[in-house]
Parts: sequence; C-alpha cells; structure tokens
Amino acid sequence: MNYRHAYHAGNFADVLKHAVLLGTLESLLQKPAPLMYLDTHAGRGVYDLASESSRKTGEHHGGIDRLLEAQGLPPLLRRYIDAVRACNVEPRVRHYPGSPWLALHVLRAQDRAVLCEVQPDEVAALRTVFAGDGRAHVHQRDGYEALPALVPPSERRGLVLIDPPFEAQEEEFKRIQRALAAALSRWPRGVYAVWYPIKLTRTREPFWRWLRGCNATSVLAAELAVRDETSPLRLNGCGMVLLNPPWKLDQALAAALPTAARLLGEDGRGSWRLQWIKRELCDPRPGT
Ligand SMILES: C[S@@+](CC[C@H](N)C(=O)[O-])C[C@H]1O[C@@H](n2cnc3c(N)ncnc32)[C@H](O)[C@@H]1O
Repeated sequence: MNYRHAYHAGNFADVLKHAVLLGTLESLLQKPAPLMYLDTHAGRGVYDLASESSRKTGEHHGGIDRLLEAQGLPPLLRRYIDAVRACNVEPRVRHYPGSPWLALHVLRAQDRAVLCEVQPDEVAALRTVFAGDGRAHVHQRDGYEALPALVPPSERRGLVLIDPPFEAQEEEFKRIQRALAAALSRWPRGVYAVWYPIKLTRTREPFWRWLRGCNATSVLAAELAVRDETSPLRLNGCGMVLLNPPWKLDQALAAALPTAARLLGEDGRGSWRLQWIKRELCDPRPGT
C-alpha cells in the first residue's frame, strides 16, 4: 500500500470530511453521557503543510487555504476553521489537523477515542501526537477488522469514521459494505460516517443502493464537487454518508455546503448535494 495522506492533507476533500466530522461530533456532544469515537483509518494525526510531500502537490491551496481567507463563513465552517487554527501556535496555519486531532479537540474528559492505523510510521506519529492524553487509544490494527470487534461500545453512544485510502475504488466500497454490515448487525443505532471519492458520480450508485437496504434507520449524504466531471481519472468531488445522523445535522450542513462549494469550486464550477438516501420519519418507540 502506497497511500500517504500527507500528500493530500487540507485539500477540498479534507475540508468536507472534517467539517462534517466536527458538526456530527458537536451534535452528539450536546448530551452529557460519555461516548466513543472510533477512527478506522486514522492517518498520522497532524500534517505539516511545509513538508516536502505537502509542497509537492500543494493540494491545500485549493482547500483549507481558501477558507482561511474567507469572511462571513456559516457557523459550521467557522468552527472548523477555529479548530484548524487551534492546532497551530503561530497565526499562520502550518499544521493541518487530521480526523483524530479534530475529534480529540472537541471530546470531553469522559469520552474516549480509538484510533486504528496500519502504517507503522503513521502509528508512531499518532502515538507522539497523543502521548499523555489518556482519552486516546492508538491501535496498530486493520480498521475493518477492528470495527465489528469494537462495537457496540460500552458507552452505547458514539461515532465511527471510516476514511480509507480508496486505492482500488470498487474493492474499497465492497470492504466498507462488509465492515458496515457486520458492525450494524451488532450496533444498528450507532452513528457511522463514511468518506468516499467521486470521479464519476455513477460509480457510487451501487454503494448508495446498498445503503438504502442496510439496517440503519436513516442515511444522509453530503457531497461536494469542485469541477464538472470532465475526467474519470481526477478527484472531481467527494462525499460523506452518515448513517443514523444526529438530529438537525442536515440543517447545519444545508447552511454550510453552498459556501463550501462557492469557495472551493474551480472557476466557479463548484456544486453540492445534500440528500436523504434513506429516511424514517418517525422513530419507532418500544412497544409500538
Ligand atoms: C485517508 S487516510 C486517513 C486520514 C484521516 N482519517 C484524516 O482525516 O486525517 C487513510 C489512512 O488509512 C490507513 N490504512 C490503510 N488501510 C488501512 C486499514 N485496513 N486499517 C487501518 N488503516 C488503514 C493508511 O495508512 C492511511 O493513513
């Protein structure tokens, strides 16, 4: 496996993923009961935007950099930018926080984070970043194999983020489906967030079809495209699906996505979509 997230940290896909992640966690954290955050593909925790890998692609220029300069951001994007700034000592943003850092930034003393990663150097970096933080548990372990083994959490509340490298697209969707099916059979009411790339929109159709039939109560998709689908080889957009999303998250996303598409779109060609893939309008109560 060759994938290294350092080449892509802070790009438009990270912006969507991390803003949605923060919004979801913030909603769940409105209740005082403890929760578990499980990151099946954690990466290294923090990325240096001045590193050789990051400078080689410069992807953050079309992502986080565009939001850092923007005024009048909607609340969800403003809080995301504040979190990115909090990862930096200097006013200039040089360090970009990955999903584990952002999660632990908002988690409370009573919560815990389980971070799975397979690359030894990424695992070592994670251990350094979170040394001394008793809420963070780093596992050098296949996240797909860990997921069904770790749910339901003892807290019975929490969020699972599945953010794989997608080196082989079709196969990755299949692995996600297998892991989600096993996890949902053990924890159908868990909240799950899955990031996926969009080169051609139609390639995610089999995944959406599977989601319609899965045993989560509701499934919401938030998608962002930065250009028209002129090439099937480029990352033209990306999406996050949320299984059993917290109440009103859709409203926060509806307020944030148009601005994200306007700021991140190339030559004004950004677009967005927020769609319920599956929705039960009333929650069945016990005994009904
Ligand atoms: C897209 S990156 C994760 C980025 C991170 N979630 C973030 O937002 O900051 C994918 C990561 O998954 C790791 N990985 C690949 N296969 C894995 C597996 N089966 N289990 C756990 N981690 C894996 C890669 O080494 C890589 O660091």
